[in-house]
Amino acid sequence: SSSKLVLGIETSCDDTGCAVVSDEGRVLGEALYSQNIVHIRYGGVNPVIAYELHRKNIEAAANDALRNACVKINDIDAIAVTSKPGMLINLQVGVKFASYLSKKYRKPLIPIHHMEAHALVVRLFQNIEFPFLVLLISGGHCLLALANDVEDFLLLGSCLDNPPGEVMDKAARRLKLKNIPEYAQLPGGRAIELSAQKAKNLDVYKFTLPLLRSRDCNFSFSGLKDAFFRKIIKAETKHHTMGDEIIPEINDLCASFQLAIAEHLMHRTERALTFCEKQNLLPKSNKNIVISGGVACNDFIFKSIQILGQKLDCNVFRPPPKLCTDNGVMIAWNGIEKLKKNCPLQIGFDLKNIM
Ligand code: KG4
Ligand code: ZN
Repeated sequence: SSSKLVLGIETSCDDTGCAVVSDEGRVLGEALYSQNIVHIRYGGVNPVIAYELHRKNIEAAANDALRNACVKINDIDAIAVTSKPGMLINLQVGVKFASYLSKKYRKPLIPIHHMEAHALVVRLFQNIEFPFLVLLISGGHCLLALANDVEDFLLLGSCLDNPPGEVMDKAARRLKLKNIPEYAQLPGGRAIELSAQKAKNLDVYKFTLPLLRSRDCNFSFSGLKDAFFRKIIKAETKHHTMGDEIIPEINDLCASFQLAIAEHLMHRTERALTFCEKQNLLPKSNKNIVISGGVACNDFIFKSIQILGQKLDCNVFRPPPKLCTDNGVMIAWNGIEKLKKNCPLQIGFDLKNIM
């Protein structure tokens, strides 16, 4: 057939993801070997375990994606693989495997920037035109950027300390949320979201918002995390809790904490939008914001950005939550977007060019 197919490969963090996507924007097949459960037990991503699991699963993930798509590797037009940013040893697993396939089957290899893939995957579903503003929030990243074109991004702000997903994971661990059976298997941020939904009061606990006076678009979450930990200690002291006991205030605590995170994200996003408007970097009408990354799965945070969008006369988009977290589909789609832009095509990949 005339339609082009790309196999996407993602190993930059703790998910081994592969997918086959067509240039018409159809996801033909996908596979995701997620390491979440393993890492919850270890309390965070263990790079050595992640590396071993990527190596163990990469071939099966690629074969699953091809089989689900009912295509053979020979039917593929190009292989797209995450080449940066991320943990070097983990990136290497994907890049080495992609390079091997590329040489063996004479298929061009397209290196992909993980954050750009997060930013562009929404275009699989909606034809959002450039330029648009992107807010990427995950366990490893937090940034605001202007997407001018497939290969043209302007970084507006990034994280000065811990990204919001990491902070929520640490907060969930500190609250021992995984001792509550219904939260046991969930990522920390999701556990906090569900606990917050049960709160009677959204803002009993007050947090000082970070960087209120700073005129840039950067983020800081470590102060919120420390303030949150102090509030937990206070509650624990009040109840004389020890060991694995859960304090009764958890739902209200989670709700206030989540609200503070959402407000900080709104505040910085508003700064970025105002900056873009002043500099004429966005169209006058039909302004768009895209939010993605694992933390964008959070409906309270997504709604907060939607409310900001209403206030600033700006549309807010989010990919389906399954594609907000790390996956192979976004890598394959970014490969398609680059192919359509006639990116240079190469066979194999020099490992020196990682990161
Ligand atoms: O994008 P992702 O899969 O991996 C990277 O960190 O790059 O994001 C994982 C992060 C974790 O920190 C997890 O706690 C967070 O996304 N997360 C959430 C939710 N679901 C996942 N955070 C807040 N609310 C959620 N519903
Ligand atoms: Zn990611």
